[in-house]
Amino acid sequence: LMSEFQTALSAVITKPELFDLKAEYVGKKGKVSSILKSLKDATNEERKTVGAKTNTIKEAILKAIDEKVALIEIEEINAKLEKNWQDITLNDIIKENGLNAAGYHPVTLVQREIEDIFISMGFEILDGPHIEDEFHNFEALNIPKNHPARDMQDTFWFKDMEHLLRTHTSTIQVRGMESHKPPFKFVGPGKVFRCETMDASHEMVFHQLEGMMVGENISTANLIFFMKKLLSEIFKSDINVRLRPGFFPFVEPGFELDIECLICKGKGCSVCKQVGWVELLPCGMTHPKVLEAGGIDTTKYNGFAFGLGLDRLVMMRYMIDDIRHIHSGDLRFSEQFKEY
Ligand code: PHE
Repeated sequence: LMSEFQTALSAVITKPELFDLKAEYVGKKGKVSSILKSLKDATNEERKTVGAKTNTIKEAILKAIDEKVALIEIEEINAKLEKNWQDITLNDIIKENGLNAAGYHPVTLVQREIEDIFISMGFEILDGPHIEDEFHNFEALNIPKNHPARDMQDTFWFKDMEHLLRTHTSTIQVRGMESHKPPFKFVGPGKVFRCETMDASHEMVFHQLEGMMVGENISTANLIFFMKKLLSEIFKSDINVRLRPGFFPFVEPGFELDIECLICKGKGCSVCKQVGWVELLPCGMTHPKVLEAGGIDTTKYNGFAFGLGLDRLVMMRYMIDDIRHIHSGDLRFSEQFKEY
């Protein structure tokens, strides 16, 4: 019986075939069962020896079937891999044939790089909606109605005057506090919208990368450590930095972290408005009212937040002298980044 089974097994290729074979030999109405059933009329002695032997065979068959299942599964996986492989040399083939290969947008490139830096420091990456309500964009961030700080951010309102296009990624701070229990740390990159007059350093749609860390005994020293780490990882060289007081209702104290304009080397140009410095990284210690609005126990926890200006960073990084290039859709601009 065993050798007959083995011959049959070696002919099996697919799982359904294997299951049929299993039924034929060790199923309820299978060959092994019928041998065991036939022992009904046998002598005690026969029943003992034949029964034991048949059971050994049954176990051997089951074991062989299990092994075959594993083998078939491996083959299935290999077949899938064979079918779904990707040709990573495809870009070269496209180029050799003078075709137009795709590339990443510089904002995407820089955003991913920064995400990696923060992931390596244990931060989570969060997202949030572009269309927001007043609460998440203003109120929860300690910017009540009629507060002059609302004028700092010219807002695109919806007709209902309750919804708006988020003016900053600080909305992600609020959403992060709502969904997380301290301690936590996360960054949230994304597009933001302001009804601004456009010039070399202002766009109506631009990008920020928000960051927040909440825990016990967080200090300005922690904030400065992470900001320094971020800048040194991005620029990989010494750059001139200055920290000055900055006002944002959601932080206290608040800072403006500027870097020396890399486009004009601090001499003054249209990007830095002739001052030689670029406001890159506003930040500060999170205001207790903001933590409270986010449901955080302020007797136990505090934190910091920052809002990196991604477009300006991209501009400094790749020496782009006008922010309007970023959304221009001009292929002559985008194609320069293919090699990165
Ligand atoms: N949300 C602020 C802005 O867009 C930047 C900021 C974020 C400042 C976090 C401090 C802390 O202008």
